[in-house]
Amino acid sequence: MEDLLNVFDYEAHAREMIDSSAWVYYSCGADDEVTLRANRRLFERIRLKPRVLVDVRRIEMSTSVLGEHVPMPILIAPTAFQALAHPEGECEMARGAAQAGTIMVVSTSASRTLEEVAQAAGAPLWFQLYITRRETARRLIERAEQAGYRALVLTVDTPRWGNKERTARRPLRFPLRKVNFEQEDEDQYLDAGCTWEIISWLHSRSRLPIVLKGILTAEDAANAAEQGVEGIIVSNHGGRQLDGVPASIEALPEVVEAVKGRCEVYMDGGIRRGTDILKALALGARAVLIGRPALWGLAVKGAEGVADVLEILRAELEQAMALSGRPTLAAIDRSLIAYERLPS
Ligand SMILES: Cc1cc2nc3c(=O)[nH]c(=O)nc-3n(C[C@H](O)[C@H](O)[C@H](O)COP(=O)(O)O)c2cc1C
Repeated sequence: MEDLLNVFDYEAHAREMIDSSAWVYYSCGADDEVTLRANRRLFERIRLKPRVLVDVRRIEMSTSVLGEHVPMPILIAPTAFQALAHPEGECEMARGAAQAGTIMVVSTSASRTLEEVAQAAGAPLWFQLYITRRETARRLIERAEQAGYRALVLTVDTPRWGNKERTARRPLRFPLRKVNFEQEDEDQYLDAGCTWEIISWLHSRSRLPIVLKGILTAEDAANAAEQGVEGIIVSNHGGRQLDGVPASIEALPEVVEAVKGRCEVYMDGGIRRGTDILKALALGARAVLIGRPALWGLAVKGAEGVADVLEILRAELEQAMALSGRPTLAAIDRSLIAYERLPS
């Protein structure tokens, strides 16, 4: 496995190692996967405008997210059922995140209980909530607080599940149990009637900072900021919900503009290279999250693989910062960005 030079190498190896039905579940998007492809394609259409003759002997990329120090602006996105990639599932992912010194967002639909993951972690974790019935949410929030999670990430793009046809044609060969729930809760999982008043409900229930995941428009970003959320993740759920929505990197600028600094803005979707991260930072993200690449690392080499994927992206970002003449995060701004222009 000495040829694991980049994240795509991890993808290729993971594909060989993961059960084929689980691979379909991890890799698929909704409907025609237009948005899934756009998440990559739009990055490729952004050009970087480097500055030269800048002192880049020292590159500094450590930052903070919700007041938590991280050595790099790269976090791990919540992904369900990590036991499909590794027997230890989320516990092993958490060890990998801790090794790299960064934050993992643990999914509600984890294959290990949130308490088990917290015990394994040894580093700060955030807890992702789906919009469930209130009683279910109340219990999960209490447990997350008890277990020491540092923030609640409410995923708002799933009033119902996206239409993943590839998994419908090739269903998972394993029964999936949502271990964070008592049996009865599993039946009515999502609450499609939920609206913006959920934010004040959450704030009244918990002192943890609230992050909304799955915002794609200026209107919703402004609403979220007005409601006093602490963070927004610009995300289309890795192309797994409404097909045809913008790539996350496309939606990012309007969200950043609408928020006007009132809360932190992060993004996920299609991050595969350090240059992708540089582009996201230049367009106003404070940090990015990786979904599938972390799963690939987990499948190939467990915690070590997760840490290695993070290190690859960190090293690539460092290289990109040096070569673009932006040695600090503060130096990364919109002037770095140009859009591909096709010859007329
Ligand atoms: C297999 C899989 C499972 C996911 N499960 C969840 C989940 O449980 N909760 C959630 O908020 N997002 C979930 N997501 C979305 C990710 O958090 C994230 O938005 C997306 O994967 C980012 O895109 P990327 O995979 O291109 O990095 C999942 C994504 C994948 C690929």
